[in-house]
Amino acid sequence: MSQGFTLWFTGLSGAGKTTLTNELLPQLKERGVKIEVLDGDEVRTNLSKGLGFSKEDRDTNIRRIGYVARLLSRNGVGVIVAAISPYREVRDEVRKDVEAHGAAFVEVYVQASLDTLVSRDVKGLYKKAIAGEIANFTGVSDPYEAPENPEILVSSDTETVQESAAKIIDHLEENGLIEPAYHLAQNVEAKFAQFGDLQ
Ligand code: ADX
Repeated sequence: MSQGFTLWFTGLSGAGKTTLTNELLPQLKERGVKIEVLDGDEVRTNLSKGLGFSKEDRDTNIRRIGYVARLLSRNGVGVIVAAISPYREVRDEVRKDVEAHGAAFVEVYVQASLDTLVSRDVKGLYKKAIAGEIANFTGVSDPYEAPENPEILVSSDTETVQESAAKIIDHLEENGLIEPAYHLAQNVEAKFAQFGDLQ
């Protein structure tokens, strides 16, 4: 069984965590990696239904996500987590927990400047937050503690989503968490050769 991992995307709302997840998911599946996604918005409609955005509730949300990520990744699954996860301490707590269970934890800081986010404002939330209509909005009226030493830094300000995804794939390959693409090609060739022998 290959080593499981948790690929943890942290960053402000709208920074590109979900977009990057959607870019990576088919690429990883194509390579035969068992993969599962825990997306903040989705988790909040089921596993964390009813939780709000106080520090206490966010920490509870992150601990729940971390718990599921740990269960899956210790069984060889690759887990992508896409949640703001603004507090460093609880992110580090989850990292320790995942690592203690023999899986890798790869923190990816999905960076984007507030200016970019406000001008994109895909969900229209920044406008409301700036107008004071949403309390405790991360990056506007609530803190975001950027990772100090993330394994990977991607920036939707300066990179395309394909470039960011490639950085992540490279990191996973270099750390033996997924098979290098050339290795996969060799496997396919070997299978064909085997098939040829049988004929
Ligand atoms: S986290 O802080 O607990 O990690 P999570 O990623 O689950 O947050 O949810 C963030 C999403 O909730 C945002 O993308 C946004 O759509 C929505 N949201 C609603 N209220 C807030 C708020 N006060 N701060 C940040 N995001 C909010």
